[in-house]
Amino acid sequence: MIRQSTLVGRDVLSVADLSADEIAGLVTAAIKLKATPSDRRTLSGIGVALLFEKPSLRTRASFEFGLAGLGAHPAVFELGPSRIGERESVKDYAMNLERWCDAIVARVFDHDVLVQLAKHATVPVVNALSDLEHPCQALADLLTIREHLGGFTGKRLAYVGDGNNVCHSLILAAASVGLSVTAVTPDGRGPSPDILDAARSRANQTGASVRVGHEPDAVRGHDVVYTDAWVSMGDDTARAEWFEPFRVDPTLMAVAADGAKHDPVFMHCLPATRGREVSSEVIDGPASVVYDQAENRLHAQNALMVALLGRG
Ligand code: CP
Ligand code: NVA
Repeated sequence: MIRQSTLVGRDVLSVADLSADEIAGLVTAAIKLKATPSDRRTLSGIGVALLFEKPSLRTRASFEFGLAGLGAHPAVFELGPSRIGERESVKDYAMNLERWCDAIVARVFDHDVLVQLAKHATVPVVNALSDLEHPCQALADLLTIREHLGGFTGKRLAYVGDGNNVCHSLILAAASVGLSVTAVTPDGRGPSPDILDAARSRANQTGASVRVGHEPDAVRGHDVVYTDAWVSMGDDTARAEWFEPFRVDPTLMAVAADGAKHDPVFMHCLPATRGREVSSEVIDGPASVVYDQAENRLHAQNALMVALLGRG
């Protein structure tokens, strides 16, 4: 169980903002919340601003329905073409919003906007996807892996695709709980060295390994195969053709299964493009747990918000 004092009032811009114990505690708290009918007294009187510079289905729906189920009032701001800091400064966004609400959840193009929001707001700021990380996704993914694999220690996950936001948070989260991870990316699209260093430092404590490979064969012997869009929202540096050899299809899943301890499960943060980063045989087949991941966004985020807002 999470002790209230560890997370109350904190910002969560990166998985690295949470200790390994806090991550494990949030997964356990999410399992408990998932198993319990939601109680509207839990966050009654709490207001949360949800800011979106980019489109969203899962993040918006899971925060809105999740917070409402706990009795909070989520207010969504779809910013359209106006980014945070354009119509008025990032500081003024922070210093206005904190007068009306108890937390700010923001999806931004530039991670530094989150850093600036957190610097100027006295209320917690939560990353709902930036170019650098997607920590809420990673918490939900750990919950999903625990449900399907029964635990983390000794298990292996291969992330296949672009080594950016989703990959970064997943590497940090996996290393924190003892799940070994291999990022399998085209050469030149690997994860950030700073993220790898931080993840390896956590992995040294948990016994996990953190590896990078640039050939599709590096998925061999993994219990989870995870992929994401080849070209992320707002990224004009990626080219889809670089990723063609990395499509997750039945052949790649069979390579992963070779030497794995578990029939590999397939994961994707969604949205997915069938026939591009994943074939429909895989995403719509029996190994796929993508809709469990989507559902678990709500439970993991509820656990996080309850802990940050001191109602745990
Ligand atoms: N996985 C995820 O964040 O989905 P959305 O972009 O729909 O929020
Ligand atoms: N990497 C993707 C994740 C979407 C949830 C993107 O940034 O567009």
